[in-house]
Amino acid sequence: MGSSDASGPARKWVDYNSLHNDLREFLERADRLGEVRHIKGASWDREMAGISEMFGKEQPDNPPALLFDEIPGFDKGYRVVWGAGNSRNRVALTYGFPEPSNATDLVRAYRDRMRGGFKQIPPKTVKTGAVLENIDRDDAVNLDKFPTPRVHEVDGGRYLGTHDLVIMRDPDTGWINVGTYRVQVYDKNTVGLWISPGKHGRLIREKYFAKGKSCPVAISVGTDPLLFITAGNEIDFGVDEFAYAGGHRGRPFEVVESELHGLPIPAHDEIVLEGEIMPDDVRTEGPFGEFTGYYASGEQLQPAVRIRRVYHRNDPIITTARPGRPPHDFIYAKSVSKAATIWDEMEKAGLHGITGVWSHEAGGARMFNVVAIKQMYPGHARQAGHLAFACHAGNYLGRWVIVVDDDIDPTNTFEVIWALSTRCDPATSIDVIGKAWSGPLDPMLPKGTVENSRAVIDACRPWSRRDSFPPVAEASREVMAETYAKWRFLLDE
Ligand SMILES: Cc1cc2nc3c(=O)[nH]c(=O)nc-3n(C[C@H](O)[C@H](O)[C@H](O)COP(=O)(O)O)c2cc1C
Repeated sequence: MGSSDASGPARKWVDYNSLHNDLREFLERADRLGEVRHIKGASWDREMAGISEMFGKEQPDNPPALLFDEIPGFDKGYRVVWGAGNSRNRVALTYGFPEPSNATDLVRAYRDRMRGGFKQIPPKTVKTGAVLENIDRDDAVNLDKFPTPRVHEVDGGRYLGTHDLVIMRDPDTGWINVGTYRVQVYDKNTVGLWISPGKHGRLIREKYFAKGKSCPVAISVGTDPLLFITAGNEIDFGVDEFAYAGGHRGRPFEVVESELHGLPIPAHDEIVLEGEIMPDDVRTEGPFGEFTGYYASGEQLQPAVRIRRVYHRNDPIITTARPGRPPHDFIYAKSVSKAATIWDEMEKAGLHGITGVWSHEAGGARMFNVVAIKQMYPGHARQAGHLAFACHAGNYLGRWVIVVDDDIDPTNTFEVIWALSTRCDPATSIDVIGKAWSGPLDPMLPKGTVENSRAVIDACRPWSRRDSFPPVAEASREVMAETYAKWRFLLDE
């Protein structure tokens, strides 16, 4: 039987002067806020994942981070954490934002940071770090020593990399790219790596293969939520994600050079694998329950990765993200960063008047994006919708973009549906765009096709009727302020 000890009573928010040093310090801080559940005795085989799914269903608004220890068959101290950064408070801790009251506070805090002269801070190479406490080389590499979870029943195997960093170097320019791509364990020293067409890691891999070479790679499978959330987002081609995350952190991430390929690996991460993607060793990868909620990409033949080094801390912690039918245990954090990044890119493309963006959790923080604007000129709403669809952050695997007026809170689905129901004429308000960037994860794509279509829906009051549109039938702010002042006590009874 498993046992679970609840954390102590939630304590007050603390504004730290600087962001956490590593995952462990992050978890300590989250624990102090009562945001971590410590669970002992759960199995790697679907049980940890099932518990994560249970919390997702029962506490969708504020799921705790789940830290598993004493996993049967594995050394005590070899731990797995699920959903490390996935709550309102934990997103604020991840970025060092003030205590938030709602999702909009977080998106705005991110935006304010980007607007306030955000600068990337390149990583600093250091000689040593906790990640080097243990190094397994060549024949000593044995991935079986880690309690790698099986996540979903139909998965093709156990997945060590979900909340991970896949670190690669462009062979032509030396640019370092960091992406989150799933990692399946095949045997004690071989893993599968699935990188979708068009992703930066895939482009880099193809460059090595075109030169007839294997592709060097380092994969961190126990990492800081700030690095994870950066790696899992569409950051521009040519930008080093370590530097981008360092900009948020306000000081550089420390990295050490990996032994085989000199790749930068986070000096204080938990577990890093290093090796090469082998063009000639093609194996079946998947299926894996994906963020759309399906096993859409099924089994595929992918070049495998031969692992020749494993670096890990004492008592290492695997970080895990659970895709599948939403809600997922990483999606809230992703919705915040995705919404803020879309907002940022739309502004960089010259659009003014954005008052909010939300990338809905049920759409996997990709497929259902809402933008609120204060309309300033004819065509503004359409421009906003098309930019939200076309910008890099909003493009991959999108489906719906909805533009609403600034009196609608884009994070409030009820209000968005009201706008769709009353300010939208389906015959004239919906633009459909074909041949857009999709991929094998899209459950609607017929096999063998790679592009999907999008709907940009203008659910704003028509510009031409802005002065004559029927007024909204609700009490004015003044009347409500008086009502609250006099009668709020009724709500507390
Ligand atoms: C939990 C999680 C798992 C992901 N798994 C994959 C994956 O297996 N393959 C993939 O191509 N993208 C995956 N992604 C999406 C990419 O990480 C994301 O598109 C990112 O921008 C890729 O980095 P790149 O832009 O440098 O290519 C995942 C994202 C998250 C948050």
